[in-house]
Amino acid sequence: MRQVPTSDASPIGIVGNGRVASHFRHYFSLLGVPFQTWSRQESTATPPDAFAACRTVVLLIRDKAIVPFIDTWPALRDRHLVHCSGSLVTPMAAGAHPLMTFGPTLYALHDYRAIPFVLDTTDTSLADLLPGLPNPWFTIPRTERAYYHALCVMAGNFSVLLWSKLFDEFETRFGLPRSAAFPYLERVTANLMTDAEHALTGPLSRGDAQAIAANVAALDGDPFQAVYEAFVRAYEKRP
Ligand SMILES: NC(=O)c1ccc[n+]([C@@H]2O[C@H](COP(=O)([O-])OP(=O)(O)OC[C@H]3O[C@@H](n4cnc5c(N)ncnc54)[C@H](OP(=O)(O)O)[C@@H]3O)[C@@H](O)[C@H]2O)c1
Repeated sequence: MRQVPTSDASPIGIVGNGRVASHFRHYFSLLGVPFQTWSRQESTATPPDAFAACRTVVLLIRDKAIVPFIDTWPALRDRHLVHCSGSLVTPMAAGAHPLMTFGPTLYALHDYRAIPFVLDTTDTSLADLLPGLPNPWFTIPRTERAYYHALCVMAGNFSVLLWSKLFDEFETRFGLPRSAAFPYLERVTANLMTDAEHALTGPLSRGDAQAIAANVAALDGDPFQAVYEAFVRAYEKRP
């Protein structure tokens, strides 16, 4: 059986060449953390051969491909296997979810260093899972992983849908530049970070049923009408 290198200075194996893999490659380069890569598009060697020198292998591939990938390459099981999915829970790899959105543009070192990792294994640290990363880290129970991920998707991804809708309508319906809304977006973000309890303004916070009804009527025929109504219902039922 292949021996796992014992030194933490061994390179970290990175599987995949998608969004997060590209960011991790860049981050590791900026940190000076050695790494080896394997992706099905770029590599001719098998993953076990590509990662022969690696003690840790991080699987940065689509969530549903992670367990089948490990099943396909059982020789990798003597590595420390780590995945970065926010929702996947499997005994085959430890979860270390970077609480961040990774777009097509690479980030600066200080931005990467600030990203918290949320682990799903209580008896380990980020230094154990991804040696050399100085990031803050937290642990939540595996049983809470699905709820945690749902919260991340709602806050991080749904807000993007809402702002993208506003940008699109500004440009196509009103002929306004999207940048007209940037100060509003920046202030909403700043107020949320400094005083979230008082960040909500507008008809919901004022209990202005007439304005809410007018908003809903104005969205007639728009798929976001149901989104507005769902937010009103959720707000009314908040604890
Ligand atoms: N994107 C984010 O903002 C973000 C944030 C936090 C965590 N994550 C997590 O990070 C991981 C990677 O996400 P991503 O956004 O980087 O995904 P992505 O950009 O869609 O890239 C997916 C990668 O998976 C590879 N892949 C898919 N199926 C495969 C298979 N059967 N065998 C081998 N490789 C396979 C793809 O290769 P091909 O190009 O050959 O298909 C590609 O390299 C996921 O677990 C995700 O949940 C993502």
